[in-house]
Amino acid sequence: MATETERQSVIATAHRRYATRAFDPDRRVSPEDLRAILEAGRLAPSSFGYEPWKFLVVRDEELRAELAPLAVGAGAVLRGGAELVIILFKRGVVHDSPHAAHIVTDVLGVDFDPDADLSQMFKGFQEQLLGLSSPEDVDHWAQRQTYIALANMLSAAAALDIDSVPVEGFAVSAVTDLLAARGLIDPAEWGVSVMAGFGYRAEEIRPKRRRDYDEVVQVIG
Ligand SMILES: Cc1cc2nc3c(=O)[nH]c(=O)nc-3n(C[C@H](O)[C@H](O)[C@H](O)COP(=O)(O)O)c2cc1C
Repeated sequence: MATETERQSVIATAHRRYATRAFDPDRRVSPEDLRAILEAGRLAPSSFGYEPWKFLVVRDEELRAELAPLAVGAGAVLRGGAELVIILFKRGVVHDSPHAAHIVTDVLGVDFDPDADLSQMFKGFQEQLLGLSSPEDVDHWAQRQTYIALANMLSAAAALDIDSVPVEGFAVSAVTDLLAARGLIDPAEWGVSVMAGFGYRAEEIRPKRRRDYDEVVQVIG
């Protein structure tokens, strides 16, 4: 069992993470710290281990300026010179897709065969258990998982005493078009899921406002 000190440390980190609305333009996250945050995203769990995501770190000032009017929710990040990470989801991750073949072959180190047990189990999981019955359903399933990577990155940043903000406040199709026009994504292959900013705050940490534990948690049995 963990010690009370260890438990309190986990809870303190959860309180420490808050949605930052003003970043200090004079303080940048070090490359080593940013790498650790991105690693926490890369190592996030995903269904069947298919990792249906990719992270774009947007440093290019021209692109950031073009994103600003399309991503009002990222205003503090862009104004404050914080690191902006755009999380993409992979489209069309089904049992016989090139992405599945890549994961099975290159990551799991197993010969890929769409008729093999592993691939068929994945097919049954998506179609029978989850009831994914359209390409849109499959893409929503992939997109949901990107939020696990997002959460891992936010928690990792907090553990390193780095401030962050998750960002959904952007025009999805306009940002997708912009990234495609810049040749950064093929929109048939990748969708824009969610963003996050990382930097150092230029404000006080806001205390948490949350529903009570007993309203949120119900123990059965
Ligand atoms: C998926 C998601 C999207 C969010 N989008 C934005 C956003 O676009 N801009 C922003 O300033 N905050 C955004 N937030 C921050 C929330 O408003 C904030 O997390 C919530 O009010 C709770 O406050 P706390 O994070 O400080 O505890 C987002 C949060 C989440 C989880």
